[in-house]
Amino acid sequence: MFEQKIDVESLKKLQWKIMQNVAAGAIIPLMRIGDELGLFKILGECKPTTIKQFSKAADIDQRYCQEWLYAMSAAGFCSHNKTLTKFHLSPEQKAVFSNEDSPALMIGAYDVLSGNIHNIEKVKKAFKTGAGVPYGESHPCIFQGTARFFRPSYSSNLIQKWLPKLSKAVEILENGGRFADIGCGFGLSTMMIAEAFPDAKISGFDIHEPSIKSAKKYAVDAGLDQVISYKVSDAKSYTGEFELLAFFDCLHDMGDPLGAAKYAYNHLSKDGYIILIEPTASDDPSENLNTIGQMYYSFSTMGCVPTSKSQEIGLALGAQAGPKKLMDILLEAGFKDAKVVYKNATNMVIEAQK
Ligand SMILES: C[S@@+](CC[C@H](N)C(=O)[O-])C[C@H]1O[C@@H](n2cnc3c(N)ncnc32)[C@H](O)[C@@H]1O
Repeated sequence: MFEQKIDVESLKKLQWKIMQNVAAGAIIPLMRIGDELGLFKILGECKPTTIKQFSKAADIDQRYCQEWLYAMSAAGFCSHNKTLTKFHLSPEQKAVFSNEDSPALMIGAYDVLSGNIHNIEKVKKAFKTGAGVPYGESHPCIFQGTARFFRPSYSSNLIQKWLPKLSKAVEILENGGRFADIGCGFGLSTMMIAEAFPDAKISGFDIHEPSIKSAKKYAVDAGLDQVISYKVSDAKSYTGEFELLAFFDCLHDMGDPLGAAKYAYNHLSKDGYIILIEPTASDDPSENLNTIGQMYYSFSTMGCVPTSKSQEIGLALGAQAGPKKLMDILLEAGFKDAKVVYKNATNMVIEAQK
């Protein structure tokens, strides 16, 4: 038997780390409840408020309200006076929890976290069988959560930072070029491009019908339904020719990313570009073993790998595939000059030319 002596200091350190993770996990249901019942929004709109006033404004039971406010206060997710009799949200807390249009919004992460908890049974079964779980069989929290979680990053980066780093994307879009957003989900990236480049011809495709339905609804609400063409289609069956084809956080979810890249190659005009937005990762997994890696490998285990394994080929690149594997796929598909043009803590942007 392999036995090692326990080092008490290492044990205590590990236990404290687990306690921090448990505390972070324990608040997940409260975040969803607060979000669904509009508690963050109402608290964000109130002047510093008593538990009684807040429970009345939110139309919730006073005792639950008190416990929720204390939990939020313990986490630093709401602000309070010294005697814990009045509560409010600071401007920063509003920006991350209650202002849906804020580029700092982070509440959507809790939709994804809750969705993953709902998916445990399906993924647990897949661990044993090696089979996949289709994206469409995920809990609906995943669909809205993905859109809400990614939107702030797209709204602060896509038009201002990412597109200008790409060789010709801005020029192509300004000159009325044809752009397709493959695996567009709720189409938030698609709409941002349509809004910024009114002359461009914009299409969005996704295999998941409910997501395309939501994308169409968002487009109607934004007055962009006549501008964007959305279709339910997988990455190897859409029609049309484009100057730019983008995969926002989805190539690694696909069962056959090489097939999707080859298909993209054949649907790009001469000299057209493919763009990948992918989670930032190192090619060396040992360099991904940090807080961001903990999040991405966990999301990937619960979502990206099961989605990919449910499709043809089932390559299961995972969310931390790293730039080399992704660029090798593009080169094998026939593209040239694959390169990472932008990288921050969470996202990297890769382009390659036909
Ligand atoms: C993580 S979500 C990203 C959605 C969207 N691009 C965004 O950034 O919000 C991955 C998306 O890829 C789509 N997807 C997965 N496999 C696909 C395939 N083979 N063809 C087309 N879309 C696919 C899913 O339906 C889902 O909407």
